[in-house]
Amino acid sequence: MTVFSDQLEIIDQTPRIGSEIRTDLETLLRGSAAETIRATLERRGVIFFRGLTIGDEQQVAIARTLGNTVESEGEEGIYKISLDQGVNQRAQYLKGSMYWHFDGSLQPYPNLAAVLRAVKLSDTGGQTEFCNTYAAYEDLPQSDKDAIADLRVVHSAERSQYYVSPEMSFEEITFWQQSPTKVCPLVWTHRSGRKSLLAGATADYVVGLPVEKSRALLARLRDWATQPGYVYRHDWQPGDLLIWSNTGTMHRVLPYPEDSGRLMHRTILAGEEALT
Ligand code: OGA
Ligand code: MN
Repeated sequence: MTVFSDQLEIIDQTPRIGSEIRTDLETLLRGSAAETIRATLERRGVIFFRGLTIGDEQQVAIARTLGNTVESEGEEGIYKISLDQGVNQRAQYLKGSMYWHFDGSLQPYPNLAAVLRAVKLSDTGGQTEFCNTYAAYEDLPQSDKDAIADLRVVHSAERSQYYVSPEMSFEEITFWQQSPTKVCPLVWTHRSGRKSLLAGATADYVVGLPVEKSRALLARLRDWATQPGYVYRHDWQPGDLLIWSNTGTMHRVLPYPEDSGRLMHRTILAGEEALT
C-alpha cells in the first residue's frame, strides 16, 4: 500500500510491520511531518528513510522533532553500535542483540524508540529483523490471552548472556549478576489500551511456574511472535535511517563478523511509559 500524506509517501513493506517513508531531509528537520511519522511508527512498528544524506547532528535533530527527550547515550546523543571492542567497550553485551529482544527491559522506562543509521555495513550478514508484538498478541487464541493475562516474568542480563556464551565461568556469571533483575508483565497494557507481548532474550522465567513450563511457555510465545507474518527484515543500504518502536516490537541482528567494521549510529528516544 502506498499512502500519500502532505510531504510523505508511505510504502508498507509487509502487511503487518515495516514501512518506508519517502520524504526529503528538509521536511524531516523542520519537524512538520513529525506527527504523521510518530503515528506511522506506532501503527507499523518500524519505519525507515533511504537515500538521504544524513549526518550525526541531523540524526539527533530529527530524533528531537519526534517530540521526546533524546537520551544522553554516547556522545551528543550518538551511540556507536559495533562488535569491535575498540569501538564500543560493551561489545560483548551487544552480541546479545543477535537474539530476539527489546531494549531496556531492565530499566524502569524502556526506550520509546531507537533511531539507527547505517554508517558502515558488513559484507555478510548484519540485516536487522523486527517483529510486531502488538499484532502477535492480538492474534493469540483467547485461551492463551486468558492464561497469560496476569503472568509476570523475571528479566536478567545474565540470562541474555547465556545465548552469547553458553558455558560462562563463575566470574562471568557473577559479573552479569551485578545488574539487578527486573520483573515485567508478560503482556504490556499500554496507555493507548493496546497490548503487546513482552518476551525476548532477557526473559528468564515466569514467576510461580515450574522452570520447565516457564521456559517452554516463553519459547512458545517467542516462536509465535517471530513467525514470518509478524516479521520485517531490513536489508541495510549505506545511510539508511531506521526507527523502531521499542514498545511494540522485538528485534535482532543477523550474525556478522566481529571484524567486519559494521558500524551503526544509534539515538534513543526516552521511554514515556513505565514498565512495572
Ligand atoms: C540495538 C540493536 C541491532 C543492529 O541497537 O539495540 O539491537 O542491527 N541493534 O545493530
Ligand atoms: Mn537492541
